[in-house]
Amino acid sequence: MSQKTIVRSVSPVEDNALYTKARLPAAQPGNDLRMAGAFPRVRMRRMRGAEWSRRLACENALSVSDLIWPLFIAEGQGVSEPIASMPGVARLSIDRIVEAAREARDLGIPALALFPATPPSLKTSDGRESINPENLICRAIRAIKEDVPDIGLIADVALDPYTDHGHDGLIEDGKILNDETVDALCAQAVVQARAGVDVIAPSDMMDGRIGAIRDALDGAGFSDVLILSYAVKYASAFYGPFRDAVNSKGFLKGDKKTYQMDPANTDEALREAALDLGEGADMLMVKPGLPYLDVIRRVKDAFHVPTLAYHVSGEYAMLRAACDAGWLDYDKALMETLLGFKRAGCDAILTYAARDAARLIRARGGV
Ligand code: PBG
Repeated sequence: MSQKTIVRSVSPVEDNALYTKARLPAAQPGNDLRMAGAFPRVRMRRMRGAEWSRRLACENALSVSDLIWPLFIAEGQGVSEPIASMPGVARLSIDRIVEAAREARDLGIPALALFPATPPSLKTSDGRESINPENLICRAIRAIKEDVPDIGLIADVALDPYTDHGHDGLIEDGKILNDETVDALCAQAVVQARAGVDVIAPSDMMDGRIGAIRDALDGAGFSDVLILSYAVKYASAFYGPFRDAVNSKGFLKGDKKTYQMDPANTDEALREAALDLGEGADMLMVKPGLPYLDVIRRVKDAFHVPTLAYHVSGEYAMLRAACDAGWLDYDKALMETLLGFKRAGCDAILTYAARDAARLIRARGGV
């Protein structure tokens, strides 16, 4: 192997995919890291000695373009209801959501993800409010699109904000029905597409829903609406604060282990991702984020498609709690956390801290 190849294979400015084990050629004299030299000729600290050389050696960066801001929608006018388990996050009425959308656009945030806090009186066992064209999320989509047409809008597709049992699907005799739920999700997706949403994001983990939703959207004339599949979604303890935010916690009976993934598994994640891509998903999501960075890396390396992570409510709550107690520096811990997602291979990150991160990036002169 030529000298040039050796340098290339360890160069920090190359595509960081070269660093992954899967991409490196098998160990041999030319690329064995022992060939990179030894102390005292090699001093790793030399490159770290100054700000300018650290900048040159920097392999990964977080940009405002990497951020998606999830927002919770509430009924009413002028409403901003703080969510106790998510300090700094509030449920906003549609007029306030439009203001937030303007703020996001002005900061350069590419897209918002919308979640409705359905009033308890509208929750039913079949979640029929999900297909009401006048429901909270549809009204919010229309209002934002009218005022801030250029921001990307992502709508979650699942039944849990609308069911009185808090599950993502329809239930019979204590079982979550797969195929009947998929039909309901298709109807929900078409209603949201009619309201003007750009991206349908099924977060329900039913089998076969991506293909069925793709067909339903195409059949209704929405072949340009994108699908972001929550392909790899784990049955996680970190969704607790989210369930407070959408008023589903008190309602949820049991757990979601018959449809969300076992946190112990990663091969299964690749299979889920492959199926959803085959069914027409445009982007993949891994969720939660921080405890699953290994899964993000595996998915990115296996498929080379737009791969997103959800820095979920519980992860945000942990960070905020430690910072609010004075134990961590919020700005620094947040940026380090989000950079970790980039290092793991994420193309974009859904985070409740998107606005905070965008402001910090801008304050440093970044974009
Ligand atoms: C619902 C859904 C959940 C989240 C996003 N969509 C909760 C769940 O599956 O119980 C969690 C997001 C978060 O915790 O921030 N299908």
